[in-house]
Amino acid sequence: MGNKVVKKRLALFASGRGSNGEALYKAMCDDYINGTFVVIITDHHDAGIVQRADGWGIPIVVIERSDYDSKADFEAAQLEALAPYGVDGIVLAGYMRILGRQLIDSYEYRILNIHPALLPSFPGLHGHRQAIDAGVKVTGCTVHFVDAGMDTGPIIMQNTVPVLPDDTEDTLSERLLPVEHATYVEALRLFCADKLSVEGRIVRNEE
Ligand code: GRF
Repeated sequence: MGNKVVKKRLALFASGRGSNGEALYKAMCDDYINGTFVVIITDHHDAGIVQRADGWGIPIVVIERSDYDSKADFEAAQLEALAPYGVDGIVLAGYMRILGRQLIDSYEYRILNIHPALLPSFPGLHGHRQAIDAGVKVTGCTVHFVDAGMDTGPIIMQNTVPVLPDDTEDTLSERLLPVEHATYVEALRLFCADKLSVEGRIVRNEE
């Protein structure tokens, strides 16, 4: 018998095309990340991730906000959908909704997110555009733990790309996307290997 540690059971939350989710899925298939997506949750039935994940053999649960009267009911549906899977963590990859408090508290330091800017600069929507408009010469991506704020949780990993004089949102996001994928793969690898610890704002890599 080998001494391989049990794989982390993870939920993937995505609202859009799902390229980060796919990069992570491939790294799991290659056994680079010691984890497995056991469920995918999306808030759009026609999100790109739904087509992309077709054939992965992972259940996809659609939980749309418009089907619920209140944010509390929507959050209850998310918690209920997660319950049977006994997940060790939640991976947000282009999930365009703020998580509810109960979800965040239930999974403290076990929810990861990727943001397309160097936090704490340019949180919220349109990270690329904010960077261009601010005239910064370098931007990047941030993988962080999720807390109750908007992109405010402790930072796990960041990587940079240059901002070029003629950049548009499209050219900048095209340059950044492969860096996002690599950064998220590396951060999730460390999380799944239990190498990350959090002291206040500081995330330590014990590897
Ligand atoms: C990425 O730019 C990510 O940083 C942001 O949303 C985008 C998702 O892209 N949070 P994808 O759906 O993973 O392709």
